[in-house]
Amino acid sequence: MAHVVSFELNGRQVSVQAEPWARLIDVLRGPLGHTGTKEGCGEGECGACTVLVDGAAINSCLFPVLEVEGRSVTTIEGLRDAEGRLAALQEAFVEEGGVQCGFCSPGMILTAAALLLRTPHPTEAEIREELAGNLCRCTGYAQIVEAVQAAATRAPGREERGA
Ligand code: FES
Ligand code: FES
Repeated sequence: MAHVVSFELNGRQVSVQAEPWARLIDVLRGPLGHTGTKEGCGEGECGACTVLVDGAAINSCLFPVLEVEGRSVTTIEGLRDAEGRLAALQEAFVEEGGVQCGFCSPGMILTAAALLLRTPHPTEAEIREELAGNLCRCTGYAQIVEAVQAAATRAPGREERGA
């Protein structure tokens, strides 16, 4: 029997019907229409499906939607401001060449956002360790690490304020 799940999605309260076994990614991409969240492996191995739950990065392909009841979820759509401007972290990914095909980018950026929430000025080793669970077949990772470093040196973006 479907349940009603209520939670905050990118700063707005939402309620959605979902089967108790439904995965968060399916509810985000399906009834809630947030297709920025990508599915790669579906098994917790690639990080493409990463979103933030209460500021922590989780794999939404493994996360039961019922567990977000009353909590705060941030997807890639939620990093832009009200005028649609990209967050500093998103801009840095574009400027540093951290986005190529773009499939891994939402998950990479949200994983990096969670790191910057906890550690505003991470070392390269900390960035690489944090992003170890996010796979990219295009960039070779160097530009992604440089993008996170660049974002960390700029004025705090929305993701660093806990959006
Ligand atoms: S799709 Fe979730 S970790 Fe790969
Ligand atoms: S930019 Fe293509 S998978 Fe990362």
